[in-house]
Amino acid sequence: MRVLRDDGMAVSEPSETPNVRLAVLISGTGRTLANLIESIAAEALEAEVVAVVSSRAGVRGIEIAEVAGIPVSVVTRKPYSDDASFSDAIYAAITPYEPDLIICAGFLKRLVVPPEWEGRILNIHPCLIPESNAAGLGYYGDRVHQAVIDCGATTSGATVHVVDNEYDHGPVVMKETVPVLPGDTASDLAARVFALECELYPRAIAHYLTQHPDLIRRSGGGDWG
Ligand code: GRF
Repeated sequence: MRVLRDDGMAVSEPSETPNVRLAVLISGTGRTLANLIESIAAEALEAEVVAVVSSRAGVRGIEIAEVAGIPVSVVTRKPYSDDASFSDAIYAAITPYEPDLIICAGFLKRLVVPPEWEGRILNIHPCLIPESNAAGLGYYGDRVHQAVIDCGATTSGATVHVVDNEYDHGPVVMKETVPVLPGDTASDLAARVFALECELYPRAIAHYLTQHPDLIRRSGGGDWG
């Protein structure tokens, strides 16, 4: 929390309530992770990234976590026979860090959501859910944007949603639109949507937490878990 001292200087003071503890799941470049770290540093989001898990080894997102001093582990899908056991390994990797919320940040694997994590996992998808479902659902990267362009849409956007047991599905927390401009390539549209995501995701996380204050474990315990 930023407060003004008597001499007018803004300083950080410990907040009365602990920051929400985020575990961030990545699979690649980690641009979303980097944006969350920057948003927290800029106090646009009162939170702390306590752990990062990558579903791929050797990706840039791992370096971003390491540079920021965040514990990072790699849990790949291959050794697991099904999505449920892979998901359990992810939850086991983050549980020691006591996260309140899991943030999917370019995470490309399907999670099976057990009851204890229902309503505690958010994702951002780079098109409008449900409007773009026919075009962009189930894709990632530029294929989402190419599909939106190919279907002749004049509007795209980004959607933050709660993760449930269907891929790119679950209650919408917040979404915003951007125009699809004549002559747009997939990478033009991707850049416009990602710029929107950088502002939208931290805002949506903060909004979700104000709507669900019970998600933040208070110091001294609580019955989460
Ligand atoms: C973005 O398209 C976002 O919507 C999706 O993953 C992409 C970002 O990946 N969830 P990264 O953060 O660059 O790895």
